[in-house]
Amino acid sequence: GAGVHMEDVDFSFEGPFGKFDTLQLQRGLKVYTEICAACHGLQYVPLRTLHDEGGPQLPEDQVRAYASQFEVFDEELDDFREAKASDRFPMSNLETAPDLSLMAKKRAGFHGPYGTGINQLLKGIGGPEYIYTLLVSYHDAPDCAPEDFPGSYNSAFASGGFPDECKDEAGNHTVPGSWISMAQPLWGDDVTYDDGHEATIEAEAKDVAAFLMWTAEPKLMARKYAGLTGVLFLTVLSVLLYLTNKRIWAPIK
Ligand code: HEM
Repeated sequence: GAGVHMEDVDFSFEGPFGKFDTLQLQRGLKVYTEICAACHGLQYVPLRTLHDEGGPQLPEDQVRAYASQFEVFDEELDDFREAKASDRFPMSNLETAPDLSLMAKKRAGFHGPYGTGINQLLKGIGGPEYIYTLLVSYHDAPDCAPEDFPGSYNSAFASGGFPDECKDEAGNHTVPGSWISMAQPLWGDDVTYDDGHEATIEAEAKDVAAFLMWTAEPKLMARKYAGLTGVLFLTVLSVLLYLTNKRIWAPIK
């Protein structure tokens, strides 16, 4: 939206050599579990992948223990039962809260300059940056808004409700962002990290954004590795072909 400042977070998984930071994913999982999962789901994410290389890499017994806190509906039993590692994360508890499995790939943080999207070439699409910025962009409602306007004012959320009182005569918004139906979920110190990391609101928001990037693209590291191998292979091949070509034509020159 107009005037929204998107912070370009330096995530460990960016760039051609980028990798997910295992401890950060574990911290993000903790924020997700203790705060976000009250409303949101991750219905496309198999619980067993929490053990996978490149992910949070929980030991298998911890994955089983983690899974057992959820209830899933079993079609065969025709009843609810404790979740197992072979199940997926539950769906959203709250109907109006979107599933977060793919959210980091659904939203773009960077649109500019002037809507051309060129920044996306340099900085990536910015899905995790968007999630981070959304979580740290709750503010007191601006003075122009009526007291009882529904939702929470968020300067990074573009598609929510917006009071007419905060528009000028031409209909332009006089304040950035809009009103979101998700109340501010993070305040700082919402969780206690097992690795002793400080739980500021910024740290929690970054960690959960990184975790949601992993849920949306768990094979990111394998893809980058394959890409690099390909580039290396083609570079070597080019050199060999160049030398072969020179040798073949040498007698004729
Ligand atoms: C929407 C993330 C906690 C309820 C969203 C969106 C994201 C998100 C990325 C989508 C925004 C968009 O459409 O662009 C998170 C994270 C949380 C969290 C990372 C934990 C840190 C919660 C909690 C609740 C909740 C605890 C319920 C109390 C909702 C609702 C929406 C929403 C109702 C729809 C908002 C709207 O479209 O106006 N959340 N959320 N969320 N969330 Fe959360």
